[in-house]
Amino acid sequence: MAGDYDLVVVANRLPVDRVEGPDGTPSWRRSPGGLVTALEPVMQREDGAWIGWAGTPGEPPEPFDAEGVHCVGIGLSAEEVEDYYEGFSNGTLWPLYHDVIVAPNYHRRWWEAYVRVNERFAQAAAEQAARGATVWVQDYQLQLVPRMLRRRRPDLRIGFFNHIPFPPFEIFAQLPWRGAILDGLLGADLVGFQRPADASNFLRACRRAMALPARRGVVRLPDEGDRQVRAASFPISIDAVALDELARRPEVQERAQEIRRDLGDPQYVLLGVDRLDYTKGILHRLKSFEELLADGRVQVGEAVLVQVATPSRERVDQYVQLRQDVEVTVGRINGTYAEIGKAAVHYLHHSYGREEMAALFLAADVMLVTSLRDGMNLVAKEYVASRYDEKGVLVLSEFTGAADELGQAVMVNPHDIDGLKDAVIRALHMPAREAGRRMRAMRRRVREHDVQRWAASFLEALDGLGDQAGTAIDLTGSPAAGVAR
Ligand code: ADP
Ligand code: G6P
Repeated sequence: MAGDYDLVVVANRLPVDRVEGPDGTPSWRRSPGGLVTALEPVMQREDGAWIGWAGTPGEPPEPFDAEGVHCVGIGLSAEEVEDYYEGFSNGTLWPLYHDVIVAPNYHRRWWEAYVRVNERFAQAAAEQAARGATVWVQDYQLQLVPRMLRRRRPDLRIGFFNHIPFPPFEIFAQLPWRGAILDGLLGADLVGFQRPADASNFLRACRRAMALPARRGVVRLPDEGDRQVRAASFPISIDAVALDELARRPEVQERAQEIRRDLGDPQYVLLGVDRLDYTKGILHRLKSFEELLADGRVQVGEAVLVQVATPSRERVDQYVQLRQDVEVTVGRINGTYAEIGKAAVHYLHHSYGREEMAALFLAADVMLVTSLRDGMNLVAKEYVASRYDEKGVLVLSEFTGAADELGQAVMVNPHDIDGLKDAVIRALHMPAREAGRRMRAMRRRVREHDVQRWAASFLEALDGLGDQAGTAIDLTGSPAAGVAR
């Protein structure tokens, strides 16, 4: 059985979520997170299908078109949302793959749901893909799909891209199902990662856990006629031109000025924009700002921190705890330092549209990206892409994938609170010429390595592999790909 699409993207989420109004009328809203930000503009240009979940439990919607993308829904029951999505994906894999910042939970019931739901995604992909089509599977929620799909459809060209870090073997080894996960990924022809270090970690896991020959970016599978699986890095990006154009619009610039006025015209606006996730280092950021106020190195009224935090995974315990901790901390900082009409921190627990985000970026003198671990962090690239005026300073955690590319940011180790405080002060007082020079260099990088280039380099690499099975191919020639050891 074969479908009509030559390109099929399979991701846990569709680019839009189904939301119901108070009277039960359904509507669609853009899904949260970097995966959708990156893939949506790619798929708008491709004539393909996007398979995913619509974000609420129950029957899937009939296939539909949204934002220029053909969407095919996958249904998850309430129990599957709990066990596969909140449980195994976000209570086991997410913390395990992010340096165990919080403790992962291992439950056999969650694993069983993960296997079952991965089968459903694989089946849907098998039904949509045309003969010889390319299927591009996305992210940690679907690591078993490549193998399950290959069993059903050996004619397909299968790629997998991991949007989050791949952990060192010493951490990955905790996973009771580590062999099954690796075997799932090895169903692909090409496995892509954000950083060369992630690809190396994967290859090492194949050697250590599976005793497979895996070197120079290739895993050989002796039990499958010596089939080769390639592993390489393809750092993801954003639609830089679209964001630059948006930020140049007069109404966005006016809105940026209005935001500054509404904040009380402070000298310095500092900005954080994240999903409310413990990987983002939001508490470290708040702590450093609180101490700067306590030390008198910044004054309320002179500087204000705007923290925008998109609601995320709100039924997972560690996220409930984080929200409480953030809200208590913001309350304490404002209670101690704010004056009437002069807040120290503006905390906004909402999602905003693209225009408002661009205006916020333009309004911010200093952008704070302080993740404790982050596959890439697209917010950092979005800030840079919006600053057509070449103003503003990016403070960037060295534990993000973006740090590999944006070397002109003010780099920080967010665990080092004193270092973070010094970095914030340095960013606030950076001479305009130096800030401009750094911003220009970062803008060039983001413009030249945008999301279209990311997608093209992955798909070209995947395309090249299918025709040359069994020969070694050097991916170093590919524009954005890196070979891993
Ligand atoms: P992650 O994928 O872990 O959420 P990224 O930084 O890579 O992290 O991507 C986050 C994406 O979500 C970015 O495109 C960012 O602009 C968007 N985003 C984050 N917070 C908000 C918000 N409050 N409103 C709208 N978009 C947001
Ligand atoms: C990150 C992950 C994505 C995920 C997104 C939002 O970007 O890499 O796979 O979709 O966060 O998280 P959510 O759980 O809401 O899908």
